Amino acid sequence: MKSSLENSKIFYDSDTSLEIIKNKKVLIIGYGNQGRAQAKNLSDSGIDVIIGLRENSTSWDLVKNENLTPMLIPEAILLVDIISFLIPDEVMANLYSEINRLLSKNQILLFSHGYNIYYKKINPPKNIDIIMVAPSGAGKIVREAFKKNSGVPNLIAVHQDFSGNALKIALAYSKAIGGTRAGAFLSTFQEETETDLFGEQVVLCGGIPKLIQTAFNVLVEAGYQPIVAWFVCFYEVKLIVDLFHKIGFNKMYNAISTTAEFGGLKVGDRIISNEVKIEMKKIINEIKNKDFFKSWELDAKNNYEELNKMKIKQSNSLFEQMTKIINKV
Ligand SMILES: NC(=O)c1ccc[n+]([C@@H]2O[C@H](COP(=O)([O-])OP(=O)(O)OC[C@H]3O[C@@H](n4cnc5c(N)ncnc54)[C@H](OP(=O)(O)O)[C@@H]3O)[C@@H](O)[C@H]2O)c1
Repeated sequence: MKSSLENSKIFYDSDTSLEIIKNKKVLIIGYGNQGRAQAKNLSDSGIDVIIGLRENSTSWDLVKNENLTPMLIPEAILLVDIISFLIPDEVMANLYSEINRLLSKNQILLFSHGYNIYYKKINPPKNIDIIMVAPSGAGKIVREAFKKNSGVPNLIAVHQDFSGNALKIALAYSKAIGGTRAGAFLSTFQEETETDLFGEQVVLCGGIPKLIQTAFNVLVEAGYQPIVAWFVCFYEVKLIVDLFHKIGFNKMYNAISTTAEFGGLKVGDRIISNEVKIEMKKIINEIKNKDFFKSWELDAKNNYEELNKMKIKQSNSLFEQMTKIINKV
């Protein structure tokens, strides 16, 4: 199995140039997490940016105050070369169906997640480019890193190359938002979509938060003070993640006590047991066979009924109440 970095194609600032997008106008649809960050980075890189908003958007004043140009989406589409879709994935296809008749030959559609193209919710015409520049991090970090002359890595991909320049354009956009400062990895819409969903479900937004809260509950149910459980199972997570993010797991084990090293290595395999691995394999299959996609689309159609129930359960938990009190959030 090919797994070494040698088999990956990575592009840095020195491999790419802004030239190909220098004279192109970019429409950023949406001014949320990614929209705001990418628009500001593009603008600071000298790229001409318009922000596309809906009529009743709450962002009109904010965009103007930040010295960018807001415009109604259908009007803006007629003026630009690159259209970057930075609104929630589950509403993107609805918006696309309202504006697709306005698209013209040679325009470039750009996504920061492969979801709508890979699952065929959006099916653009053949005479345009379809590319992806997906930052591996939240918008806030994309902006903060850029301001420090650094960047967040990007996954880039080309789904449709009508112009023959699609990859160059994706790389130039990545450079303009700071991605190639850290590295832009060549991927595909399929790979980005499936691995991104798997990562957020199994590790980032599912596995880690549930591991922390379950461990917290076990300690509280065993009679320990909630505040002590909170510090041990939650507060210390950031410290250890920062450490192994910087130096890797091996050196992290050298930097902790031998008692923690022995206990961690001995118990880790019991917590993340073979049953857990089997469940992870089921989850990647549910992503690949579209079961997850169908259930999320259904819930979005049902006014997020299931999502809202889960959010209420989460916010009523003792763990969440502790966090509110201690972090004053
Ligand atoms: N969030 C991340 O960290 C992250 C990381 C990598 C990739 N991505 C990808 O980036 C894309 C954008 O995600 P996001 O989290 O940045 O989105 P978001 O913050 O939730 O997007 C909010 C913006 O979308 C606008 N919007 C919502 N519904 C709309 C509609 N029906 N028509 C027009 N505008 C609408 C909102 O405008 P109003 O002011 O009108 O409400 C607001 O400006 C997604 O494809 C996502 O997968 C996100």
